[in-house]
Amino acid sequence: MFSPFIINDKNLFLDRYPINQVNRSLQAWDAADEYLVNYVIDNDLLTDDSKLLIFNDNFGAVTLNFNQNKVHSISDSFISQLGLKHNAEQNNLALENIIQLSSLDDLPIKSDVILYKIPKSKNLMVEQLCQIRKILTSETHFIAADKAKSIQSSTLKLFEKHLGITKTSLAVKKARLVFCQCNPELTNNADTKLGQTYTQTKTWMLENSNITIKNYANVFAREKLDIGARLFIQHLPELTNEKKVIDLGCGNGVVGLSLLKNNPKTQLIFTDESHMAVASAKDNVQVNFAESEANCQFMVNDCLTDIEPQSVDIILCNPPFHQQNATTDHIAWQMFKDSYRALKKGGELRIVGNRQLGYHIKLQRIFGNEKLIASNDKFVILSAIKN
Ligand SMILES: C[S@@+](CC[C@H](N)C(=O)[O-])C[C@H]1O[C@@H](n2cnc3c(N)ncnc32)[C@H](O)[C@@H]1O
Repeated sequence: MFSPFIINDKNLFLDRYPINQVNRSLQAWDAADEYLVNYVIDNDLLTDDSKLLIFNDNFGAVTLNFNQNKVHSISDSFISQLGLKHNAEQNNLALENIIQLSSLDDLPIKSDVILYKIPKSKNLMVEQLCQIRKILTSETHFIAADKAKSIQSSTLKLFEKHLGITKTSLAVKKARLVFCQCNPELTNNADTKLGQTYTQTKTWMLENSNITIKNYANVFAREKLDIGARLFIQHLPELTNEKKVIDLGCGNGVVGLSLLKNNPKTQLIFTDESHMAVASAKDNVQVNFAESEANCQFMVNDCLTDIEPQSVDIILCNPPFHQQNATTDHIAWQMFKDSYRALKKGGELRIVGNRQLGYHIKLQRIFGNEKLIASNDKFVILSAIKN
């Protein structure tokens, strides 16, 4: 158990989420969270009536310090949203003032203080800054935070370009704050329609097909086809009849879409923990396979939580090996274990993975079997059957 996150005599016991991670040595908050929360408290930025917007809070460290105020907490990660809820419960903190929004929801029109944890994806950051500038006024306090080494001059230029005059604090415990003053010229000219208009969407054609792949700002392989996925879509299972299939960790849906190309009647669930990923997959099915849409479901989920056991024929997965900035294999483990539970007897989990990751060992341990379907110098395609 870690020492609590202590600020202003408030002790918060915070877990990373999901809590049963293999790598328990990582903390659920960082020095940037601490600096941000301390700054707000030390400078008396809040009254009882102040409204806060908090962006990209990983596991609730920032939001749960301000749960007496009206807070909108915005994240693209369903895992972070679950983490916030879990940490509120374990600290007996009420969530009634906290509204959790996804990165595609409209922002509330008025807020007094905006606390912005800088995300890893600069595309997501620009998308969010374009939304923020529609509601920023000269009275709004805007404070961003990150590790000092991650705040480069190019990052500051983005704040300057999208919001206004930008200044930074001194570094404390290797974290830094960024302050932006609303530039009325930028904010007055901002497209005033809340939500809906996304500036960082990227669309490309899937090679050797007529499929267009649209990606919202925070989607994996937003710029081009992932090289692991490229090999994977060449080795998808042959489907004999109308099977129930899951594209697990679907991103933009490229794997499921490639399956739909030859099997338009497949019942297909696209699922991911990123709201933007699931929205992209949904748009891509609508645009490319409108006739198959009724057979498809789109689900924001943590792996396969709540999928009925023994209900699925085939699961296709290109597993992640990062959670935020941390490299980890706990998500792959959870995806494989959940797949075993969700598959019918005789059902197949088919995955692609980097050779060095040794996924065959995990599959052997969980399924008692695994088979090499294809490989190249970097990746392997593996199949495991639930016996
Ligand atoms: C390597 S990417 C693969 C994306 C896409 N299938 C492709 O091949 O381009 C892994 C995906 O898993 C998603 N992911 C990460 N953690 C997850 C979780 N706990 N539950 C569901 N999806 C998750 C990520 O958001 C990401 O889209």
